Amino acid sequence: MHAIGIDIGGTKIAGALVSETGEIVRSARTPTPAGDPVAIVENVVELIRTLSDGEDIVAAGVAAAGFVDVTQSIVYYAPNINWRSEPFRDRLAELLPGLDITIDNDANAAGWAEYRFGAGRGATDMTMLTIGTGVGGAVIVDSKLLRGGFGAAGEVGHLRVVPGGLPCGCGQRGCIEQYGSGRALLRFANEIADAGGIGLSLADARATSGRLDGDIVGALIADHDPGALAALRELGSWLGQACASLGAVLDPQRFVFGGGVAAAGELLLEPIREAYLAHLPARGFHPEPTFAVAELVNDAGVVGAADLARLHAAR
Ligand code: BGC
Ligand code: NA
Ligand code: ZN
Repeated sequence: MHAIGIDIGGTKIAGALVSETGEIVRSARTPTPAGDPVAIVENVVELIRTLSDGEDIVAAGVAAAGFVDVTQSIVYYAPNINWRSEPFRDRLAELLPGLDITIDNDANAAGWAEYRFGAGRGATDMTMLTIGTGVGGAVIVDSKLLRGGFGAAGEVGHLRVVPGGLPCGCGQRGCIEQYGSGRALLRFANEIADAGGIGLSLADARATSGRLDGDIVGALIADHDPGALAALRELGSWLGQACASLGAVLDPQRFVFGGGVAAAGELLLEPIREAYLAHLPARGFHPEPTFAVAELVNDAGVVGAADLARLHAAR
């Protein structure tokens, strides 16, 4: 039987009907009503109704960018969305009686999909970092998704890398999210543009478009523009450093990186590996994990959410 996966992103809500083997049978999408939790519920319900029309569904999983509780029904806190102790599952269940619904963290969903069907296949222990507006994390330990005692394990983006550093949406300072996210990449790119020299193309692109965005910087990276590559290297070196600390606790065989910037492939992985090794405890004596970019890219969230919902329903 198929399951439904929903992935709530910053600009769009993606949904799919997913088979047991992770194939997308049908998909649909709708815009994310920014900052409006009630409208988000309405749009998700609409999407689930559309996708389940005429189908026999085992469960629906909804991936959201926040700290999710252990019963997979409440979003405790979403740093970049207006959710505080949001009883998300109950709001959905009220409008979709009879359907088994679970909430999951967005990065957990993406990481689970990569582990099952993508770049994490074959590993028993994998750590995924998603690089977007925020930095998300998914931790697979002994072939299981690590949920923690309160449900919110794997919030890798809030690992502190700079004591007293930049303020974060979580209420703390110096989290890796402020140095390793898509937003951080744009900040580095703007700084490099301001400095002149290798930042010339970035400055030109910024002048033409009004501001730098992920597409512009991504295109310059693809062109091997020195300024854009320097911004990417800065991002990668922060991420690699964080991975060294994560590795000390989790000891994964593989790190996987998702999000738009993962399209840079080796150009992203190289500075990550370099910084990882530079900060690795027991360097030279600790086996080295492999580093990979995500394979399922934009589909990871919906595929993982559906698969986790299916597992939950089978419990
Ligand atoms: C949130 C996570 C989320 C990540 C990616 C972080 O700010 O704390 O829950 O997975 O962003 O969306
Ligand atoms: Na997570
Ligand atoms: Zn934080």
